[in-house]
Parts: sequence; structure tokens; C-alpha cells
Amino acid sequence: MTLLELTDVTASYGPVQVLDGVSLTVPDGGAVGILGANGAGKTTTLRAISGAVRVGGSITFDGENIVGLRPEQVAARGIAHVPEGRGTLSDLSVRENLRVGAYLRSDRKQIAEDIDYCLDLFPQLRNRVKSNGSALSGGEQQMLAVARGFMAKPRLLLLDETSLGLAPSTAKNVYEAVGRLRRESGIAMIVVEQNANLAFTLVDSATVLETGRSVLSGTTEELRDRDEIRRAYLGG
Ligand SMILES: Nc1ncnc2c1ncn2[C@@H]1O[C@H](COP(=O)(O)OP(=O)(O)OP(=O)(O)O)[C@@H](O)[C@H]1O
Ligand SMILES: [Mg+2]
Repeated sequence: MTLLELTDVTASYGPVQVLDGVSLTVPDGGAVGILGANGAGKTTTLRAISGAVRVGGSITFDGENIVGLRPEQVAARGIAHVPEGRGTLSDLSVRENLRVGAYLRSDRKQIAEDIDYCLDLFPQLRNRVKSNGSALSGGEQQMLAVARGFMAKPRLLLLDETSLGLAPSTAKNVYEAVGRLRRESGIAMIVVEQNANLAFTLVDSATVLETGRSVLSGTTEELRDRDEIRRAYLGG
């Protein structure tokens, strides 16, 4: 079943159009990558889904139109956006940051269990659970950002360049944890990445954006075999 469908989505910042026909489909429980160079419109595509920019075209989630909803309404439908730049609340502890992620929920017992699950998923965070956000390393902040997204108990998680600025081994650890989260929770994901090798460890299919337009889509296997993808995104 299709969970999310974008058809010919357009978006502008003021007079400047930056999305010019983005289409993609996320099956329920599926994981789809978005690849593309700097400025291609990857982040704007996620912002279009989460209601942070005005869009044209069609976006449906669980069969219903979500174009025109405000960000908090989109979140309430079950879409959690883990933005570029992590968004750690620096004056709050790790545990408090995780609670903030669950702000729309009232199932206290389950929230406590989910916090514990996050700390299992990212043992480094368990060691820092009382530390202020400001005391975390970049990698720890990225783990916290993903975990906070999970705490919303979404049906769809939007991950924007989760590996950005991380050492390769840390990025790999984070992606392994996200893969486990995917397997165990069944949450669908959109994974924006510059590092296609990492993205391809997680996603089933991907779409390539060029200057605001979807130019190529396929399964991970199909894309791996294409010369232009290898050259541009897979390092050879
Ligand atoms: N708030 C904004 N106001 C005006 N223009 C913007 C704004 N945010 C992004 N843009 C422009 O929109 C285009 C798409 O930007 P976007 O951030 O979606 O790209 P991206 O693919 O996520 O790039 P990156 O890989 O660098 O994160 C770029 O040309 C960018 O300069
Ligand atoms: Mg971006």
C-alpha cells in the first residue's frame, strides 16, 4: 500500500521557484532515498511534505491530501521531520530532549518504554542521558535527533543528511541503528543523503533530484548499476 505520494510538486521561496516537478512514492513501511547535489531541492522536498513551505502539485499521505496543512497538523498525522542541523535543545538533558519528541503523546508508560528503546538503540546516549544537549558531540546529537523523531511514534520519518559532518565509522553506526529501527518498528522513511553508499544500506529505492526536478528513480539495485549514479554518487 502507498503511504505517501508526491506528484509534480512545486515550491518557491518568494519569487524563486526551487521545486519544479518532484514526484515520489513511499510504500507503507518502505524506505526511499533522495539523492542530489547541493541546492538540488532535497531539503525543500522534505519541508514541502512537512508543511513548512507552500507547495503546488499533490501530496497525499495515507490516501488524504496534506497540501495546505500546517506543520503541527502534518506532525499530528504521523510524519516526523529530523531536520538538517540536528536541532538539539541545548539546555535540556538527553532524556528531556527525548520527551520533547513525544510532546503530542499522552501514553506515559509507553513513552518511558520508548525512551528506553532509544537508549538501547544508541548506547552512547544512555551514557549521556543526564547530560545537557550542549555537551554532546556531533555524532551524539545526530543520534539524539533521530531518536527524538522516533519518539513522536510517526508512521513516516523524514531524515535529512543524518551523516553530515560525522566520521565515517560514526555515520555507519548511526545508519546501522536506523536500519534496526526500521526493521523493528516498520516505520517508513525518506532518507536524504549526499552519501549514496550509506543511503543504499537502508533504502529499497531512491529518486535523484536535479535543480528541483525528479530526473531518475529506481530500486537500489537498478540505481547501483547505472554509470551516472556510480560516477556522481557512489565514488566511481
Ligand atoms: N529559505 C530559503 N530562501 C531562499 N532560497 C532558499 C531557501 N532555502 C533554500 N533555498 C534555495 O533553494 C534551493 C534548494 O535548496 P535545498 O536546501 O532544498 O537544497 P538541498 O538539495 O537540500 O541542498 P544541500 O545538499 O546543500 O542541503 C537552493 O538553490 C537554495 O539556495
Ligand atoms: Mg539540504
